[in-house]
Amino acid sequence: MPANASRRLLVTSALPYANGPIHIGHLVEYIQTDIWVRMHRMHGHEVYYCGADDTHGTPVMLRAEKEGLTPKQLVERVWTEHKRDFDNFGISFDNYYTTDSPENKALSDSTYLALRDAGLIETRDIEQFFDPVRAMFLPDRYIKGTCPVCAAKDQYGDSCEVCGSTYDPTELKDPYSVVSGATPVRKTSTHYFFTLSDPRCESFLREWVGKLAQPEATNKMREWLGEEGDNKLGDWDISRDAPYFGFEIPDAPGKYFYVWVDAPLGYYASFKNLCAQRGMDFDEWVRPDTTTEQYHFIGKDILRFHTLFWPAMLQFSGHRTPTNVFAHGFLTVDGQKMSKSRGTFITASSFIDTGLNPEWLRYYFAAKLNSAVEDIDLSLDDFVARVNSDIVGKYVNIASRTANFLVKRFDGKVLDTVMSHPLLQKLRDGIPQVAAHYESREYGRAVRLVMELADAVNGFVDSAKPWEQAKDDSQTAALQETCSISLEAFRLLTIGLKPIMPRLAEAVENLLGVAPLTWADVARPLSSSQPVSPYKHLTTRVDTKQIEKLLEANKDSLTTEAAKPTAAEAAAKKADGKGKAAATGGAPATAKGAAAADDETDPMITIDDFMRVDLRVARIVDCKAVEGSTKLLQLSLDLNEGRLRNVFSGIQSAYKPEELVGRLTVVVANLAPRKMKFGISEGMVLSAAGSKDQPAEGRGLWVLEPDSGAQPGMRIG
Ligand code: MSP
Ligand code: ZN
Repeated sequence: MPANASRRLLVTSALPYANGPIHIGHLVEYIQTDIWVRMHRMHGHEVYYCGADDTHGTPVMLRAEKEGLTPKQLVERVWTEHKRDFDNFGISFDNYYTTDSPENKALSDSTYLALRDAGLIETRDIEQFFDPVRAMFLPDRYIKGTCPVCAAKDQYGDSCEVCGSTYDPTELKDPYSVVSGATPVRKTSTHYFFTLSDPRCESFLREWVGKLAQPEATNKMREWLGEEGDNKLGDWDISRDAPYFGFEIPDAPGKYFYVWVDAPLGYYASFKNLCAQRGMDFDEWVRPDTTTEQYHFIGKDILRFHTLFWPAMLQFSGHRTPTNVFAHGFLTVDGQKMSKSRGTFITASSFIDTGLNPEWLRYYFAAKLNSAVEDIDLSLDDFVARVNSDIVGKYVNIASRTANFLVKRFDGKVLDTVMSHPLLQKLRDGIPQVAAHYESREYGRAVRLVMELADAVNGFVDSAKPWEQAKDDSQTAALQETCSISLEAFRLLTIGLKPIMPRLAEAVENLLGVAPLTWADVARPLSSSQPVSPYKHLTTRVDTKQIEKLLEANKDSLTTEAAKPTAAEAAAKKADGKGKAAATGGAPATAKGAAAADDETDPMITIDDFMRVDLRVARIVDCKAVEGSTKLLQLSLDLNEGRLRNVFSGIQSAYKPEELVGRLTVVVANLAPRKMKFGISEGMVLSAAGSKDQPAEGRGLWVLEPDSGAQPGMRIG
């Protein structure tokens, strides 16, 4: 038995917020964790994978209100959706729970009381913005106003997206509440703080940082801790005033635990709930002298919560501390942040609905993941190419080329005498290395090694040519040898890929007639006593058309305004969980990570987004009515490009063609040409129009015109 046979591990992934769908960015993390957990299960370790929905906080409260639900109703519905998505992607939680549970309430109370008894809780009056209409305090991100530096309107309370300045919300000009639109007032209230600045916390964290596995995480944490004597750690504001969806603080009516207090305790609550189901002793796992291991997989944006607040909370409330925290980077799609307008904000459910195989995504992410805190890119072309060449072309191909010869010619029986063939020995040496790569979270290396081994197996099959052996009676024995070796090789490769593609592995187990494969099975070759079943299709190729369909399904361009998130919702999502609002009195959180996480639903665009639109001055050289259309005029436009552009514009109701000839206007020059009934339109003329709510007549339509002096072709911006 290996020395580590008795390992006992509790593993978690970050708890997704209960106010939105699971998307492929999230899935990077759940897939990464699930692969690690499955690898451990295959070693026979006692491992529990726990998760939950993160339910508390203002965003959930406001979202529920908007949907006409109570927070509890919303949270229940979202839980079902999240659970369905995780099941579809093979995320094998031992327990998927909720932070809004009795276990979590009890843990939050007892942890808080222990911290208080340890002298690490203080109250302090702080002044904050308050929405007098909604009677609620507003974190920085719920306040908008005019930037004090560049005067850009509608900027958030902590930073300006136009000029990039950061400031205090008090410096905003004309501030307003994104919840009600009211002008916020300043109001004082008592807050509860966890005194992270206490020398006990600091010295504990200085030591604990030494445990971290990732140099990037260690460096970040050292930066937050500063040099000895710097006193960089601020106290952590752990209370929020009513109205707040969360747990009320014991002995503090109207004060609630800030969501980030009960969220990580939600890991324990989920596990505690599991322990009750399985008759296990929860306390044994969480007491300071436990020999069990505890790991948290998280995204880089929430490192601070998991490497400062969470370990300190555990340490000073009489618990064990995490064995390690593993952070990953963010997902980009085709090199860019996931975007609703490009259709790359891909939800888990749309992926399934499109008919794509979730194990393909598991494979692709695995191939890209390593142990570093690096962003990973999903290149859609590469995804198609890789799945087809690796999974179908290299791996499955081995079985599809040989299994049926064995079934038809040899009753499915392998030759026991070839099981120590050098090729198989090579694989038996390789697969344990694959397991080791998984352990160190170098999944990309694991995948590369499996594929190298698959190449060697395909090379063997190519040179043995079983399809020719099958035609030659004198080669019967050789054919059985070839097929036996390649199927045993296929079995070994399957062990290596099983943590990534458990369903495919199960289909292979059925094909080969073997019990669920573990790492120990590397040494247990196929045997003639267990015949192989007839080959059934194991997987299909991915088709580029499916990807097009997927992007189309996620495109937001046609969504009506009503369905789009309101500014308040977008701000709400940005607030509470992340960013500066998270740590009043503490050091600023990782603004970059927070931005990366949240831009996905932000109705605001950046200056870069705007600059992608190529607006040009154009001269209307010619203009005529379009025969057969009551709406369109056909314009010939000079953008100083050495040619004229043909553009159709729906302005016939407002202009006679001759009125426009010779005038300057503004054109979107980089709009993809559009084929219309009357011809191709190569751009769009900008015009102002009254609201669609008004009757068509009287609504008005005015073509834009630059100030005199502008020349055709000039760029606008
Ligand atoms: N609720 C908090 C976590 C509390 S843990 C006690 C939260 N939720 S989240 O829904 O915003 O994110 C859940 C996890 O998914 C986080 O670890 C986050 O980093 C990760 N990701 C969210 N978007 C992501 C990408 N685009 N790419 C990779 N990971 C991403 O944070
Ligand atoms: Zn500004």
